[in-house]
Amino acid sequence: MSTYILTIDQGTTSSRAIIFNEKGLVISSAQKEFKQIYPNNGWVEHDPEEIWSTTLSTCHQALANKGLNATDISAIGITNQRETTIIWDKQTGKPIYNAIVWQDRRTADYCQELIQNGFEDIVMNKTGLLVDPYFSGTKIKWILDNVAGARSRAEKGELAFGTVDTFLLWRLTAGQSHMTDATNASRTLLFNIHDQAWDQELMDRLEVPAQLLPEVKDCSANFGKTNKDIFGEEILIAAMAGDQHAALIGQACFEKGMVKSTYGTGCFMMLNTGEEALRSENRLLTTVGYRLNGKVTYAIEGSIFVAGAAVQWLRDGIQLIKHAHETESLAEQTPLNHGVYMVPAFTGLGAPYWDPQARGAILGITRDTGIGEIVSAGLQSVCYQTKDLKRAMESDGAVRPDTLRVDGGMVANNWVVQFLADILGATVDRPVVQETTALGAAYLAGLYIGTFKSLEQISQLWHCEQSFKPTMDKKLQDELYDGWIDAVSRIRSK
Ligand code: G3P
Repeated sequence: MSTYILTIDQGTTSSRAIIFNEKGLVISSAQKEFKQIYPNNGWVEHDPEEIWSTTLSTCHQALANKGLNATDISAIGITNQRETTIIWDKQTGKPIYNAIVWQDRRTADYCQELIQNGFEDIVMNKTGLLVDPYFSGTKIKWILDNVAGARSRAEKGELAFGTVDTFLLWRLTAGQSHMTDATNASRTLLFNIHDQAWDQELMDRLEVPAQLLPEVKDCSANFGKTNKDIFGEEILIAAMAGDQHAALIGQACFEKGMVKSTYGTGCFMMLNTGEEALRSENRLLTTVGYRLNGKVTYAIEGSIFVAGAAVQWLRDGIQLIKHAHETESLAEQTPLNHGVYMVPAFTGLGAPYWDPQARGAILGITRDTGIGEIVSAGLQSVCYQTKDLKRAMESDGAVRPDTLRVDGGMVANNWVVQFLADILGATVDRPVVQETTALGAAYLAGLYIGTFKSLEQISQLWHCEQSFKPTMDKKLQDELYDGWIDAVSRIRSK
């Protein structure tokens, strides 16, 4: 009898496949990085064929690692980098352009035009989002306007749009399912989060034909079956959710006021606001936390574009380190108040600043600044940005979070998590299973097929590995954070 759940976690820099058992424990996993394409200043693309091939090979690898096959898998859950936009030919399944990645800023001028024409209020009211190149809507328009023949083909219904979840689903089902879930839909600029439907006014304004759009389902649902040729047997695809929403589930943040922060390529802090779609006054996003049995649980989200990517840049960009794990000991050997600030606005600033034209800087360098200071400043920048988000959430009147649950690659670094607790002045809890995103997708699939009976049962499976308490005195905390605010103000474009 099949007992395991296979999760596909298709992220910004790598594709992963993780197999979980019925207790939510990892049985096997595989991971493959793929190419980042930077065709222009502020542009970021992926080759969709590489997204597909790495997804497929990691699934096969995760199965092979433990000698498993399709009959051992009861369901698949898909979770994914959100907003990244792909348009493909329905006949051939071939993309008509590279995937335009969420970080891509090419539509910044068009977004500015939309804001000047008073579009932002409409967008905020209907979608909970801001007008920013981050989201899919303007990326879809860009492809339709810039790829020869695309718009007329889209109008004839020959093309399909999808975020990465939808594209993978299409490929896995050999074109049988053109679907997404409410969390991924909620990041497109086209989906009304109150009505839970694609919105005609938004589609008209962004010139996106309805024929392009997928059907929107709950996060736990029947998304179709994999084509038999892929794994040898059909497997039910029973869940889809954007990666940050899946992490909210994996962290068991099911009660109003619970908050998680995930440190992957970027950092995304999400606070459960229950049945209320709280409208932020501080430029945070209102989003669908998850949708189960047609019932929406909302969240507010702060999105930071660069977190782990700052460490990646220290390693691959200026090559100050060889391995990410070196950052921990370098930071430990450096005093906290070294005076250097790195603002990693490589592709502009996300929440709460939303400044797509801003670019990064390292400030406060003196004759005795060394690698330790710059590395420490890179790690600290991620924590300062988290504090920006926490403050914004608090002044939005959301339930004041006293504990933050963290996950993602960067939280393996104890120095980062302790500094985070110190600068926030809050407890930071790291769970036993840190594959939280993939775990969330496994829970969602398991809820559909009955492996997990309820959210209450899932809550019982969450266990804290280490709780980090704040120890820094308030004066130092304020001094350090004031320096950050000053550094950010120096790199703003407006
Ligand atoms: O919104 C973008 C986000 O979903 C990307 O997540 O984990 O690839 O940094 P990640």
